Amino acid sequence: MMRLPWRDLAPGVGPAISTSLTEAETDELRRLAKDKDVLEVGSAFGYSAVVMALAGGRVTAVDPHTWLNSYGQMVANLSYYQVTVGILREDSRAALPRLVEESRTFDLVWIDGDHAAAMVAHDVEWARKLLREDGTLACHDYDEDTCPGVREALDAWAPPPRLIDTMAIYGPGEW
Ligand SMILES: C[S@@+](CC[C@H](N)C(=O)[O-])C[C@H]1O[C@@H](n2cnc3c(N)ncnc32)[C@H](O)[C@@H]1O
Repeated sequence: MMRLPWRDLAPGVGPAISTSLTEAETDELRRLAKDKDVLEVGSAFGYSAVVMALAGGRVTAVDPHTWLNSYGQMVANLSYYQVTVGILREDSRAALPRLVEESRTFDLVWIDGDHAAAMVAHDVEWARKLLREDGTLACHDYDEDTCPGVREALDAWAPPPRLIDTMAIYGPGEW
């Protein structure tokens, strides 16, 4: 178990962005997203989206931005770091089924949205429809002290994942 507090961390050379990702998780995300088509569920102020876009990921980011009122700050951060991210300012329950309808597919789906077990299960179910066969699924906050729903939902459908801190990673053939 780990406790990940929110703190300010710079995703590159530039201003810090509030996030709960660790540096090891950041390095892994950078590696997984490099030059890939990426779907992010849960952006907050844009830390992980900026990290992946700076690594060459073509990122589509789903977040209604109501919880933290984070939209303006995310847009400012994307602009500062001069990266382009396709922002879908909506709930994953609306966005993910529509992306499937549009036949969109991704190399990486990164889930860090609503951490309640039922919502993680929802996001994983749709992520699996959106992933290419050789794609990777990564979920934040597995075994994080304050987010028991993440592990509950993930362990209900798959064997224990590879972990980098609290980042659960399911490679091709594992999801
Ligand atoms: C832990 S924060 C994301 C942190 C971010 N990935 C980072 O790098 O710091 C969780 C975010 O998920 C968003 N969220 C909550 N429910 C959601 C849902 N159903 N679909 C998409 N995003 C959701 C919240 O608005 C919040 O901004």
